[in-house]
Amino acid sequence: MRPYRPLAIPASEITPEAHYFQRRDILRMAAAGGLALAAPGLAFGTEMLEAKPSSYDPGEDLTPEADVTSFNNFYEFGTGKADPAKNSGQFNPRPWTIQVDGMVGKPAEFDLDALMALGLEERIYRMRCVEAWSMVIPWIGFPLASLLDKVEPLGSAKYVAFETVVRPEEMPEQRGVFQPLPWPYVEGLRLDEARHPLTILSMGLYGKTLPNQNGAPVRLVTPWKYGFKGIKSIVRITLTEEQPVSTWNRLAPNEYGFYANVNPAVDHPRWSQATENRVGGGGFFGSNDRPTLPFNGYGDEVASLYDGMDLTVNF
Ligand code: MTE
Repeated sequence: MRPYRPLAIPASEITPEAHYFQRRDILRMAAAGGLALAAPGLAFGTEMLEAKPSSYDPGEDLTPEADVTSFNNFYEFGTGKADPAKNSGQFNPRPWTIQVDGMVGKPAEFDLDALMALGLEERIYRMRCVEAWSMVIPWIGFPLASLLDKVEPLGSAKYVAFETVVRPEEMPEQRGVFQPLPWPYVEGLRLDEARHPLTILSMGLYGKTLPNQNGAPVRLVTPWKYGFKGIKSIVRITLTEEQPVSTWNRLAPNEYGFYANVNPAVDHPRWSQATENRVGGGGFFGSNDRPTLPFNGYGDEVASLYDGMDLTVNF
């Protein structure tokens, strides 16, 4: 991952917030039964996603949708921040299944309709990437715990491993001569982190199904951790006894820890983590800087998961 260089975003590309709230009103009307457009039981793949609002909301201005969908990290489609939006047009996220296996009583393969039936919620979360940029994004998804419950984890399961799809024919960096990462992209959480109510599998943002560049059709969101934990286009979830491998931790263990909790007191070896630049908002370079909060502001909810651990060692 490279240092953040701010993008100049033309004002014309920024979705005015009023549009977003109009969209939310439409969704609410639909939920109340007025519109066939977003009726309950809607098949995956239509543009709009119905979700009930959730209580998680940092109460900060949303990052403009145009920034959320044009400034991405998704190395399967290129290493530049603009590459995923540019190079993911050939990726086809449907049909899609997720295999859930490992140390569980009932391993299963789920299709997306089954996951939709778990009940989608809209949650507004801060997201912060390790290179010090941050966004506030209205995600739509469901708690990962509700999927894990379905497969009945065994008492011996301690961790959850995640795996991204491998499709060289649709993902240009997987067929190049020089490949920037080993595939598949993999990530992991401790089981109690995975079961925490803040941890969701997301299938949409801004009231719509996930754009390819943001991890269609389903990706992980753990808002108290650095963005690289948010593995995209997930095809497999495996419960394990041993700590799973995670892509960036394997490549550069001194730079990217397994836990990756947002921590302003532990700098990345090549840059400070004390402040962050909030993307969007039209400020001049530097004027959107703000102090970074421990656990990205979710300390009251998650700090107890790490009681007794030295977070400078387990970073
Ligand atoms: N998942 C896969 N499969 N491949 C990737 O390259 N990049 C990660 C994460 N998930 C990545 C991935 C990184 S480094 C970040 S910061 C976030 O996705 C970015 O998510 P966003 O583009 O939706 O903001």
